[in-house]
Amino acid sequence: MIIPNSSFEVLENTKPDDVSLPAFMVSTTRGFLPRAEPIVTLPSDFDAIENLLQEMPVRTLSGKPGLLASGQLGDFVDTQLPDLSEQVNKHKDNLPLMNALYRDYSFLASAYLLEPCHMRFIKGEPYGLGRSFLPAQLSRPIARCAELCGFKPFMEYAGSYALFNYRLQEPSKGLDYSNLRLIRAFEHGLDPTSSEAGFVLVHVEMVKNSGPLVAGTMSCLTALANPDISSPGAQRIAFNDGLRTILGAMTTVNRVMETMWAKSKPQSYTSFRTFIFGITSQSMFPDGVVYEGINDGKPLSFRGESGANDSMIPLMDNLLQVQMPDTPLTEILRDFRQYRPSNHRTFLVEVKQCSEGLGLKDYALAIDKENGAMTEEEKESIRETRRLWLGILNQVRDFRWRHWCFAREYILKQTSHPTATGGSPIVTWLPNQLQAVMEEMTEIYNSVGGRTGPMALGDGSQDIMDLVDRQRQTLRKEVDKYCQERGVGAN
Ligand code: HEM
Repeated sequence: MIIPNSSFEVLENTKPDDVSLPAFMVSTTRGFLPRAEPIVTLPSDFDAIENLLQEMPVRTLSGKPGLLASGQLGDFVDTQLPDLSEQVNKHKDNLPLMNALYRDYSFLASAYLLEPCHMRFIKGEPYGLGRSFLPAQLSRPIARCAELCGFKPFMEYAGSYALFNYRLQEPSKGLDYSNLRLIRAFEHGLDPTSSEAGFVLVHVEMVKNSGPLVAGTMSCLTALANPDISSPGAQRIAFNDGLRTILGAMTTVNRVMETMWAKSKPQSYTSFRTFIFGITSQSMFPDGVVYEGINDGKPLSFRGESGANDSMIPLMDNLLQVQMPDTPLTEILRDFRQYRPSNHRTFLVEVKQCSEGLGLKDYALAIDKENGAMTEEEKESIRETRRLWLGILNQVRDFRWRHWCFAREYILKQTSHPTATGGSPIVTWLPNQLQAVMEEMTEIYNSVGGRTGPMALGDGSQDIMDLVDRQRQTLRKEVDKYCQERGVGAN
């Protein structure tokens, strides 16, 4: 299936056995999950890595303390870990395996760099500085795997920590939450009931529902681009069907997101998150990190793993052409969009271009059409598009509002560290996008005359907009309060 006016292929069959394709591509079935379940077991060439990763977590699978419990990982890497770059090259044609190695080396690199910060954190001290030098036995393999897979040579959300880090306890039971386990962990994550496991696995469980988001997006774009659709009425019906599919999927995604509160406890988040910080815009790495043998010895810096690199919300932003304010915070949003599998990145860009090129938003809102003569049936069909459009935006708002609640409970109430794992300012960044979505909804609702008059959208939409009015005010007050308490500017 090709995105109209482009050559980008969205897979309908994920070709799980084809190792010449990257692990991450976009499909209508698995959405943004990898084409096949992540590789768990490495070839024996990498036994040294496998053994070290099993010994690494604060609590190992057997329940015994691992190397990170006593700050011994760094010494082990420095004195005992061999450089396996040649072995990496030997397997370079197997891209899913390269992805698994990228995941594993990025776990080791983050643990190595952030171990000193963790040791201070558990003593109740400030993070201080991380290690600023990554030795060749880590820097060379991670750089090579990242290059082959199209990632940055540092832990990412999709390719490493979250979406390539689950396994099925019993393969026949499939992707059911209770059947998911982590492959790698920093803290207590090998225990499926731990907060670290819950944090990661709720992400996976949400993204499991992204297939219909992609399928609905393709239906909307093709409905508009397809000259074969017999009549304008049929075109709008097809378009509305696509929107309905998206709305259903986003509603499920949000329902799953709500389970985070129970699966991962707010009080536990700050202890495992030490290991997922980035090496840019963080006090622990004021000058980035030197990767031995890479970049002529000049330091590198990368954002940390963050759900901000997930592709579901950016897909909605791009398809619906959500307007973001022209602020330095929005620049960070754009920068985040670099940190994802290259196929996802291209997909998002193509969807944005296609949506804009086809005038998708103008078609959906159909404001000009109101001047022409329309049957009642045509009018109702347009009202339905507007309700669905607003309904999807409302799901994006719901996602971002819950996020603000997460940031408040898991971060702001637990720590004074000013930046999130991805390096964004914790008080102001999430509200930048949340306010933008709510403003967009208000503008659209007003411009289509949604509240009263012949094209009013009814009680359901009115309830949504009443909630939006209340949340806009609440958010403003909360952000002002935290800005004042922490002495930070609004953007
Ligand atoms: C305890 C749960 C969570 C916490 C504390 C949390 C925290 C954060 C923070 C602090 C950011 C700001 C970016 C940065 O890291 O610098 C962020 C962004 C983001 N996170 Fe999460 N997150 C959580 C769960 C999730 C889940 C389950 C998803 C699902 C995919 C997700 C998706 C996102 C997205 C899409 C953004 C960008 C928001 C936007 O565009 O406005 N997060 N998260």
